[in-house]
Amino acid sequence: MKVIGGPASQLLASRTARALGTEPVLCEFNRFPDGELYLRITEETENERVTLIQSTPTDSDLVSLLQLIDACEGASELNVVIPYMGYARQDKKFKPGEPISARAVARCVRADRIFTVNIHEKSVLEHFPCPAENLDASKLLGEYIAGFGLEDPLLIAPDSGAEGLVKNVSSGLGFDYDHLEKTRLSGDTVVIKTKNLEVTGRHVVLVDDMIATGGTMAESIRMLRDQGAAGVYIACVHPVLARNAALRLFNAGVKDIIGTDTLEKAESRLSVAPLIAETLNGF
Ligand code: R5P
Repeated sequence: MKVIGGPASQLLASRTARALGTEPVLCEFNRFPDGELYLRITEETENERVTLIQSTPTDSDLVSLLQLIDACEGASELNVVIPYMGYARQDKKFKPGEPISARAVARCVRADRIFTVNIHEKSVLEHFPCPAENLDASKLLGEYIAGFGLEDPLLIAPDSGAEGLVKNVSSGLGFDYDHLEKTRLSGDTVVIKTKNLEVTGRHVVLVDDMIATGGTMAESIRMLRDQGAAGVYIACVHPVLARNAALRLFNAGVKDIIGTDTLEKAESRLSVAPLIAETLNGF
């Protein structure tokens, strides 16, 4: 199988290729003088089994993915892995007149099989014009957290939306887990607290699918520290970390931030390559 990494997933594609016992195919990425994107796959893909790996955090990355798919038109089999899918959070019309952007993006991606990793909303998979599967990095995340060597860590989801993820991350490792809940005490007083467990004196790992602006996490970190947590860490699948998010989190007192290489950032210390390789090996 030929593994080709788009511009946003060069490391992950290389790691996945290695895990599959092959070398990644070299691509050239450039821009025309007017700013349009240019790319070229330097090896023949005609009648080959091909896997493209490309996250789409930016509009340009989405165009690169569409170009790669087009360039592989003669492949005998085409798998497309979108480790982080941009626009997946606009999975419905929140206000009249809005597009379902996740659907608009998904409809453009044509392949034999599509894989995402911890996509924000699984219902988005139904919009792809071919079979699509969501891979779950929670086991890898859990094993990585276990490697921190924290004494009796408490894993916490910052909201009920991440409850399932934190449960899966803890699964099989025996970690306590809980989620944060907002309680309105009066018109202008809101208390954010863990639903069931006390945090005082405990090492807390906040777990979410993604950190975007860091707003959700910064508020949670401050609150957990005020309530006596011994230390607060963050683990996420997709370290989007837009603008000054990392700085906001360290200002709020986080001890460390770890994410996976679905997005290639300094914080992407854990690779999802074994998960992708294992899945591809199954086909
Ligand atoms: C929301 O549902 C997600 O799971 C994350 O909690 C959210 O996207 C984080 O956004 P931000 O970092 O901007 O608070």
